[in-house]
Amino acid sequence: MFVQDFLYSKILSLMPNTNHSSEVELLRKRLERERRARAESEAIAEKALSQQYLWQKEMSLLQSIATAANESVAADHAVQTALDQVCTFTGWPVGHAYFFVEDNCGELAPTGIWHGNDTDRFETFRKVTEATRFKEGFGLPGRVFALRKPVWIIDVTKDANFPRAKAATNIGVRAAFGFPVLVGVDVVAILEFFSDVPREPDDRLLNIMAHVGTLLGRVIERKRSQEAILEKNTSLEQALSEKLCLYEDLKLKQAELEAASQHKSQFLANMSHELRTPLNAIIGYTELILNNIYGDVPEKIKEILQYVETSGRHLLSLINDILDLSKIEAGQLKLSLNEYFIQEVVHSVITAMEPLASPKGLALVATLPPNLPIGKGDERRINQVLLNLVGNAIKFTEAGEVRVEVTQRDNEFRVTISDTGPGIAHEDQKRIFDEFQQADSSNTRKKGGTGLGLSIVKRIVMLHGGSVGMESELGQGATFWFTLPTCVERQEVL
Ligand SMILES: Nc1ncnc2c1ncn2[C@@H]1O[C@H](COP(=O)(O)OP(=O)(O)OP(=O)(O)O)[C@@H](O)[C@H]1O
Ligand SMILES: [Mg+2]
Repeated sequence: MFVQDFLYSKILSLMPNTNHSSEVELLRKRLERERRARAESEAIAEKALSQQYLWQKEMSLLQSIATAANESVAADHAVQTALDQVCTFTGWPVGHAYFFVEDNCGELAPTGIWHGNDTDRFETFRKVTEATRFKEGFGLPGRVFALRKPVWIIDVTKDANFPRAKAATNIGVRAAFGFPVLVGVDVVAILEFFSDVPREPDDRLLNIMAHVGTLLGRVIERKRSQEAILEKNTSLEQALSEKLCLYEDLKLKQAELEAASQHKSQFLANMSHELRTPLNAIIGYTELILNNIYGDVPEKIKEILQYVETSGRHLLSLINDILDLSKIEAGQLKLSLNEYFIQEVVHSVITAMEPLASPKGLALVATLPPNLPIGKGDERRINQVLLNLVGNAIKFTEAGEVRVEVTQRDNEFRVTISDTGPGIAHEDQKRIFDEFQQADSSNTRKKGGTGLGLSIVKRIVMLHGGSVGMESELGQGATFWFTLPTCVERQEVL
């Protein structure tokens, strides 16, 4: 009892049973007013307190859904968490989720995501739900889908647009509400809940459920993009491991090819060597017969033997070329590195080639500066390079001159062989350095040869650590060049 009440009753009890004085009456009224005011303020405080409690409950619901959903590994788990939390919050026994799937002909797809403690009791309702096709506007989820807002049904057994009414009556569910899970403006899922008794709409609850929907939407969006990234990563990893397998396969195949190529080169090297021995004997004996060592030979037979000798020599040079290439490819061509005079190499080539140039009326000129240093390299092979290039120049040039020039700079010899022949088309210039490649012009084809000379030249120069190239315009002659380090200490590995 408050002090005023106590005082008031005390005053009344002390009063003689006569008419109250006006002062006492005044006091009584005042006390009455105060009592009313106190009761009102107590009611207001109580309401505020319960509002505060509800607000706290709602906030903790949102918070716990957000936390649990964030921690879940997939979108399905997040939805399951939300169903369980909302059922606990509302005390409603059943909850279920639908997903909106793009290629489902506009129908919502029921999921296996349910909340329901009493599985036996809800079994039929569950089956009916999962068998019903919900389109926009149809049933509770269809209505939520159409409105994109929460929907409340006071009593599903009396609702005109609730196709599962029979199953609902059987298991005793009455009120229901559903709300959309939104990603932006798109509905990605719908959650529905059922209570045991009919209930009037609770705007405050629907409002909080709308928040749950938006929150869940954000989580689902994030989970789905994480899932997509994960899926992409997995497929990338798979593609990578397939590529790695392929790469390993290729490496294996390459090793096999290299081994096969080694065998081929080895075989060719052996074969060429074996062919050369009897061929040398054929050429040698032919020469002896032609020189009348075995007696006089009739003119007719001499002609044929000369043909045998020329063809034999041609075959021998071809075999020599193949032997050289095979040796280089098999890594068996060893340079014999010794000191040499480049001017001597040039002069010996000019001397050897003169007999080929003069019948054509070609001038064969060499330009060499004085005081060229002594070189170090494989003289015989350098000679071979120059022979090939000068040989080509003479072979393809019909008039004018073939000029050989040597310069030396930066510890390098640069040898240039230029001619006044037909030149080489730009499109042919690169490939003529490859094996068996000849320029397409019918003129050069008529000159004979197998297209091995330049590929041997290139490899020998490269073994010395030098480089080779050419410049030409069709119809304006050709200039081939190669460089050699003045002093080669070690041969390069190709
Ligand atoms: N000085 C040149 N002028 C014009 N074309 C040339 C010249 N040198 C080379 N070629 C072209 O390059 C091709 C390849 O030359 P390469 O020396 O490799 O082979 P080849 O001379 O035809 O045959 P091989 O040298 O094996 O007897 C020639 O067939 C020719 O078409
Ligand atoms: Mg040639």
